[in-house]
Amino acid sequence: MPEGGFGYIAGGAGDEWTLRENRAAFERKQIMPRVLTGKGPVDLSSQILGISISSPVVICPMGGQGLAHATAEAGMAMGAAASNTIMALSTVSTLSMEQVATASSGPKWFQLYLQADDGVNRDLLRRAKAAGYRAIVLTVDSTATGNREADARNNFVFPLPFGNLVRKGTGGDIHALNAKFALNINPRSIEFVRNESGLPVIVKGISHPDDALLAINAGAAAIQVSNHGGRQLDGSPATFTVLPAIAKAVDRKVPIILDSGVRRGQDVFKALAFGADVVGLGRAAYYGLALGGWKGVRSVLELLNKELSMVMQLAGAQTVEDIKRTALV
Ligand code: FNR
Repeated sequence: MPEGGFGYIAGGAGDEWTLRENRAAFERKQIMPRVLTGKGPVDLSSQILGISISSPVVICPMGGQGLAHATAEAGMAMGAAASNTIMALSTVSTLSMEQVATASSGPKWFQLYLQADDGVNRDLLRRAKAAGYRAIVLTVDSTATGNREADARNNFVFPLPFGNLVRKGTGGDIHALNAKFALNINPRSIEFVRNESGLPVIVKGISHPDDALLAINAGAAAIQVSNHGGRQLDGSPATFTVLPAIAKAVDRKVPIILDSGVRRGQDVFKALAFGADVVGLGRAAYYGLALGGWKGVRSVLELLNKELSMVMQLAGAQTVEDIKRTALV
């Protein structure tokens, strides 16, 4: 992968403190071994918003996957489907949402970067519904582009067009594209997306319990606790750190997805024990796609599920519900 593409994927915002902290926070909590419970074998099966999945892991929306592999988001969707899980497709994908829907019949969500032009929003939502996407992931943490210094150093310009947004003059320039994003996202935006799409809305990019409650009151079907993998507000806390307070506020009214920093089965276990229902996988899946197309994505998911099974067995948790009842130390 050329340096510019790799910097865009791997990098975070500013000093990358939050990028590192997303990992470090997981390391500050431990899983207590439980060895005489007599439990086993383990069962990873889960569900979210009415969709059954093989384990509590889904694929996060990530832009421009043609950077990683010639099959781009079609490969990601096929890898997710082969592992019986959900793939979220970014607004700024390389392939169009229709191309990805044709490539894989597995369950998919469409991620929306709300545009300043509601005509464009309506059009994107109508197309997503028509193409069979089963929920809208409304990303609310990107009203400004994070300060990605790797991109500046590499003079990174997207080498590929964005399949969903074919507009003159925006080509591969992510900044020109971001200039069209809505800046005034608020609870009415959630109502708008819900009414226009007729689909459940997952509000992604929440770090504060008050924002979680605002989203739920506006009709969110789920909350995605995320700091965009440390790519937006550097200096913000790890998602794992803020998770318990959000789970307390949400009080099981809607499911909670947690992403940012998930790399191992241990992280999945800890996130569920700390209040999440499902985790979202970001860069790990992108790297799997880069290394082996859909098989690489499947391989990353298989490895994560294998690790999670092992951790559950050694921690005395037989089901995903058992994990949620486990206290970390
Ligand atoms: C992202 N993310 C993201 N989020 C989103 O809502 N829409 C998008 O288009 C993108 N694009 C994107 C590109 C790349 C290269 C990365 C790495 C991430 C954020 C993503 O959905 C998720 O929140 C993080 O990737 C989770 O953190 P980890 O797992 O990468 O640490």
